[in-house]
Amino acid sequence: MDSALAPQPVRLDPFGADQHTENAGLRAAGPAVLVELPGGVVVWAVTHHDTLQALLNDPRVGKNPQLWTTFREGRLPEGWPLMNFVTVPGMVTADGADHRRLRGLVTQAFTPRRIAELAPAIEARAAALLDEVALLEGDFDLRRHFAYPLPMQVIGELLGLPPKQQDELHELSDTLVSSSATPGAAVAAQQGLFALLGGLAAAKRAEPGDDLTSDLIAAREADDRLTEMELVGTLLLMLIAGHETTLNLITNAVRALLAHPEQLAAVLDGTYTWSAVVEETLRYDSPVGQFPLRYAAEDIEVGGVTIRRGEALLASYAAAGRDSGHFPDADRFDLGRAPAKHLSLGHGPHFCLGAGLARLEAETALRLLFTRFPGLRLADGPAPEPIASFVSNSVKTLLVRQG
Ligand code: HEM
Repeated sequence: MDSALAPQPVRLDPFGADQHTENAGLRAAGPAVLVELPGGVVVWAVTHHDTLQALLNDPRVGKNPQLWTTFREGRLPEGWPLMNFVTVPGMVTADGADHRRLRGLVTQAFTPRRIAELAPAIEARAAALLDEVALLEGDFDLRRHFAYPLPMQVIGELLGLPPKQQDELHELSDTLVSSSATPGAAVAAQQGLFALLGGLAAAKRAEPGDDLTSDLIAAREADDRLTEMELVGTLLLMLIAGHETTLNLITNAVRALLAHPEQLAAVLDGTYTWSAVVEETLRYDSPVGQFPLRYAAEDIEVGGVTIRRGEALLASYAAAGRDSGHFPDADRFDLGRAPAKHLSLGHGPHFCLGAGLARLEAETALRLLFTRFPGLRLADGPAPEPIASFVSNSVKTLLVRQG
């Protein structure tokens, strides 16, 4: 760590019981608090809503890893499980004009009009998956059979990833977003993903299709605006961001609704909208727990501490969503609160590019699921186990029973 007078960091435990319990402790310690990540890497977690909102839009905070002293000096451990978030070439690790160039290339695929055009296909996919779910007997894992395949199929088709490669990609990407992988597994997953997506790029170059990968290649070859590494990095980002998060959102929303049957009933009778369910779930149980990393380009004063130039920050979205200084009674899932202006889809220049798609997918999934199975309930048994990650915030399985 670069601050000589900094307090002792809190160890962030990816195998910890529950992110919300851990986050309550971090929030109590202040708006920005030092945490130790796996491998002994120390960064600031920004956990208060207002502070996080300000820093996400602060020009003194960047995403280019060259700003980070620990990275520049080669002090990260070999096979560090979060390395991919720091080094993947693409819009999440770029600032300013570079960021605008990389983001601009995919923005046109995510305009409100293009998203609205996808609605009938998303609805048909969700209905087909529910036809399969209806055939399952006894308790079943809602995450595996519904929350996962829907966003995976949608983003897979947008990018032209063949269905038979989607499960392989998901397994590799699970390792990448888990902050608990062993060094060997983290490196193998990264290599596996680069090989798989390099193959996708080669196939689309040989035989272009009606998909975003072919569009990105055409843009790259038209005026050489995207390097080969940036192309593969962008595919990686879109495929991971495009399904791991929405999968968590659908899972977390179903879990919250089944734990609050009176609020589910009020949605089903039209008192509350599916949109309200999605927004309140994003606030209450953010699918992205903590997003790595940002870096201070200058010294920044935050609530009595100084984040020094060259130090790194985690955007603690799940903690900010439960900040009672911003959301009254923040630990309560309450569809009646005014639409939550949460930060769980990001804020500022890196605001989630797929926000419209994620909202459409989640609203469609929940509406169809509960219309088809209004008596759905949680299966008996122990509480579901959290994912061993502080990046991905959800449960490993969600066992439910058709009513
Ligand atoms: C519920 C679902 C989703 C959630 C909660 C979510 C959340 C986020 C968050 C918090 C960020 C900002 C990360 C940061 O810099 O701190 C982000 C960025 C991003 N998201 Fe999403 N996301 C979701 C769905 C999607 C989907 C469906 C896609 C699309 C294809 C997508 C693509 C992206 C991309 C490309 C960025 C990077 C933008 C940039 O750096 O300029 N996301 N997302």
